[in-house]
Amino acid sequence: MSEKLWQGRFSAKTARIVEAFTSSIQVDRRLYAYDIQGSIAHCKMLAKTMIISDDEALELIRGLEIIKNEIETDRFQFNDSLEDIHMHIESRLVEIAGPVAQKLHTARSRNDQIALDVRMYLRDETCRIIHLLYKLQKVIVALARKHLDTILPGYTHMQRAQPILLSHHLMAYFEMFSRDMERLENCLLRINVMPLGCAALAGTTYPIDRKFTAELLGFDAISANSIDAVSDRDFIIEFLSTAAICMVHFSRLSEELILWSTFEFNFIELPDSFATGSSIMPQKKNPDVPELVRGKTGTVIGSLTTLLTMMKSLPLAYNRDMQEDKAPLFSAVDTLAACVEIYTDMLPEIKFKKENMQRAASSGFLNATDLADYLVNRGVPFREAHRLAGEAVSFALEKKRELHELTLEQLQSFSARIRQDIFSCLTPRQMVEQRTSYGGTGGKMVARAIAAAERQLDQKKDYLPGGRG
Ligand code: ARG
Repeated sequence: MSEKLWQGRFSAKTARIVEAFTSSIQVDRRLYAYDIQGSIAHCKMLAKTMIISDDEALELIRGLEIIKNEIETDRFQFNDSLEDIHMHIESRLVEIAGPVAQKLHTARSRNDQIALDVRMYLRDETCRIIHLLYKLQKVIVALARKHLDTILPGYTHMQRAQPILLSHHLMAYFEMFSRDMERLENCLLRINVMPLGCAALAGTTYPIDRKFTAELLGFDAISANSIDAVSDRDFIIEFLSTAAICMVHFSRLSEELILWSTFEFNFIELPDSFATGSSIMPQKKNPDVPELVRGKTGTVIGSLTTLLTMMKSLPLAYNRDMQEDKAPLFSAVDTLAACVEIYTDMLPEIKFKKENMQRAASSGFLNATDLADYLVNRGVPFREAHRLAGEAVSFALEKKRELHELTLEQLQSFSARIRQDIFSCLTPRQMVEQRTSYGGTGGKMVARAIAAAERQLDQKKDYLPGGRG
């Protein structure tokens, strides 16, 4: 490989240890395709504005395409002494195209170049993750539709609270992932702004046409301030915060699946293909996938923290610190995408143990609120009704009975307004069905929410960003 492209100012060679320390090629080589695509657009713009000739542009583009092919067929030599992907490609271009290659970097700096590459990369990955989430959403809605009559206890404070439909519970995750998708789409607005042409930090003396380059690369806008453009990493932080929130959603779902698959809960059975056994305890089937998703949530939150900490107090404009943004970003992208994909595959394979769920919903005084509501409907003020129902619970506990197992006379000892029809109000099914308020767990409401979600997904199909329908 040739000597360093910035060697001019230096009289001594870079120390080996420094080369190794400053090199980012093992991380940023992943950006090669964007780097080349950006350089090709840059060449076309330089030719259009007559900063270089058409022939020179063609030669440069031909060389860049050869390099792309070399990288993709594993014939390209990566080498720590060349620092990063930009230097690797440019050095190789000198070898392939000769002196004309020296013109590629006209009106450009690595500072705007890296910002461009990362934006192009993140634009693609954000679109890909939106598509993956879309598929997950379809799976969640289909599962919710299947479980419109599966009842389980809903919990608050991890204590049995009130019976709910499993489909309602699943649709809660639909809502969370919908917000995540919205957030990602919103991130795209600020990712898709083109920094190229801002050069090192101050812009350039050449008569460049940034709009033209932006059009070639599919950017909706160009950055308005060159200093900001080379030092802004907000778009990464925004993506990472969205990724972290989305992972937090997955971690909650994971925690529930882990709990539900315990012997103590016994609400679900995870598919064998998504679990592992123990090397010492033959009876074990471990929920590795949800556990790892729960654990990986920490690494994605870590990526966000890394970026925030790295950017905090950094003076304008570009600082080398910012090279540290890529490893956490790539890791978060890979992790989030993998989690979305594995959940999309795993969810339909989970066996929900309906009888166990239903049985759990029938004990533990989940109907205490409904006893109070019954009294309210017969004219007792809510606070008073709440107290009476509480006394009934206490009495039933003493008798080792559930509320619906008390006799009518026993119940009437708390309020004379209680009639035989109380018993039909205290079954889990009745309790669910009575919750008909908008957004509640009543079957009709949930069916409506599912239908709305299906429509929403159907309409969205043709409008997913990146056109990868
Ligand atoms: N490898 C650098 C990064 O990832 C690219 C820009 C470096 N610019 C510079 N003047 N050293 O941030």
